[in-house]
Amino acid sequence: MIREPLIFELSDDGKKSYVLPELDVPVDQDILKDFTERKDIEGFPQVSEIEVVRHFTRLSQTNFCIDTVFYPLGSCTMKYNPKINEKIAALQGFQECHPYSPSFLVQGNLAVINTLEELLTEITGMDAFSLQPSAGAQGELLGMMLIRACLEERGDPRKAVLIPDSAHGTNPSSAHICGYKVKEIRTTEDGIIDLEDLKKLMNQEIAAIMITNPNTLGIFEKDIKKIAHIVHSEGGFVYMDGANMNALLGYSRPGDMDVDVIHLNLHKTFSTPHGGGGPGAGPVGVKKELIPFLPVPLVVKENDEYYLDYDRPKSIGKIKGFYGNYLVMVKALAYILSLGDRGLKEVAEIAVLNSNYIRKSLEDTYHLKYKAPTLHECVFSDKNQASSGIKNIDIAKRLIDYGLHPPTMSFPLIVPGALMIEPTETETKQELDRFIDAMIRISKEAEEDPEILKSAPSSAYVSRLDETSAARNTILRWEPKT
Ligand SMILES: Cc1ncc(COP(=O)(O)O)c(C=O)c1O
Repeated sequence: MIREPLIFELSDDGKKSYVLPELDVPVDQDILKDFTERKDIEGFPQVSEIEVVRHFTRLSQTNFCIDTVFYPLGSCTMKYNPKINEKIAALQGFQECHPYSPSFLVQGNLAVINTLEELLTEITGMDAFSLQPSAGAQGELLGMMLIRACLEERGDPRKAVLIPDSAHGTNPSSAHICGYKVKEIRTTEDGIIDLEDLKKLMNQEIAAIMITNPNTLGIFEKDIKKIAHIVHSEGGFVYMDGANMNALLGYSRPGDMDVDVIHLNLHKTFSTPHGGGGPGAGPVGVKKELIPFLPVPLVVKENDEYYLDYDRPKSIGKIKGFYGNYLVMVKALAYILSLGDRGLKEVAEIAVLNSNYIRKSLEDTYHLKYKAPTLHECVFSDKNQASSGIKNIDIAKRLIDYGLHPPTMSFPLIVPGALMIEPTETETKQELDRFIDAMIRISKEAEEDPEILKSAPSSAYVSRLDETSAARNTILRWEPKT
C-alpha cells in the first residue's frame, strides 16, 4: 500500500486552499498577519483545497470505525451511533448556543440538561446527576472527590479505596489521583468479588469500594447488596463503575443495589460516538447524602423556569468548563427518547443474547477461564492456541485481515492472554456469524500455518508494528528537511 504523505510533504510555496475577494476597505495587512499566522509551526503547509480534501479523506479510509466494520471491543460498548442523534444535535439552537447566554434565553437548552439528568436518575435509581464530566475516567475522579468531600465534612477523611483485581485501570488511577491508597480485592474462581477477602480488608480506614457491575468478565456481582452492607457498616461508600450499564438497562438499577455513586458513559451505553469519533460524557449519579457536593452549576427548575444554581457552598467546584460536553447530552437524550422504556430494555436483552451467542459458538475453540454465566460480554483467552506459539495479539491482528476490528486484548489482567468480546445489541446475526466464522478459521490457521497469524495484518494500511520501538522512539512533530 502507498504511504500517505504528511500534509507538510504535500506543501509547495504559494499554493492556497482559498481565494478571498479583494478587500474594499483599507486594512493594515501586518496587523492581520499577526493574528492569523501560525509562527510556532515552521514550514506551515501550503496546499490546494483538493489536496486537503483528498489527504484527509484518504486518511479517514485507513481507519476502522463503527460505520464501516463490526467493532467488538469489550468494555467499550462500540454500538451503532444512530444518525438521528447527529441530526438533532446539529440543530442551530443546540449547536450555536453560546455558553454565556443568559438563562432566560436558553430555557430549551437547560430543559435538555434537566430532562437528561431526570431520565438517568430514573434509569439508575439514584437521587441526582451531574452531567459535567467529559469521560468515564473523569466521572470516576468526580465520584471519588464527592466521597472525599463528604467524609471530610464528617471529620473522617480516611486513607484507602478497595478495588477488585478485575477492575479497569482508570479505577485505581482515579482513586490515586484523589489521594487514596488502593487495596486490591481478589476475584473468586466464579469470577466475582471474594467476600471473605472483602471482609478482611474492610475497616474504618477505607473510604469506598469501587465496583463494576456486571464486572469486566461480563459476570453479574450477585452479592452486590451483601458487599454494600459490609462497606456501609464500616462507614464507607459504594462507587459503581457503570461502564457496563448496557447489560442492565431497564432490568436492574444500581440505586436499588445500595450503590452510593455511579458514573455512566454516554459514549457507550447511550450511543454517542467515541474512539476518535468525538468528545464523551461521564455523568455521575449520587444518593441524597452526596448531592450538596455536586459540581456547580446545577440546572434547577423553579416555577416552570430553569436557572443555573451556583449558590452551593459545599460544592466541590467545577470539573469541566461550563456544563460539560453539551452536544453529547443532546445526542444521548435523543437516543433515550427515541428508544423509550421498552426500547431500552430490548437493548439489554439483545446485547446479552448476542454476547451469549458468540460465547456458545466459540467456547469449544477458545479457552474460557471463568465458566460462570455472563451478560453483555465474554472473555476468552489464547490458551488453546498457545501450543502453536500463538498469542492473543496474533489472533487480534489476523482479524483485521478478515475485515473485523479486534476485541479488547489483555484486559482484565486476571485472564492471561485475554480476548474480551462485546458485540452489543446493534449487530445482526449474519455479522455475528461472520465474526464467529473468522475466529474459528483463525484458530485453524494457528494450527496449520501459524506464520500467517504472526505476520498479520497483511491487508492493512500499516502491517505489524514493532511496538517497543513505536513506543520508545515516537516522532510526534514534523521537522522540515534541512
Ligand atoms: C470498565 C470501564 N471503566 C471505566 C472506563 C473509562 O471510561 P472513559 O474511556 O470514558 O474514560 C472504561 C473505558 O473504556 C471502562 O471500560
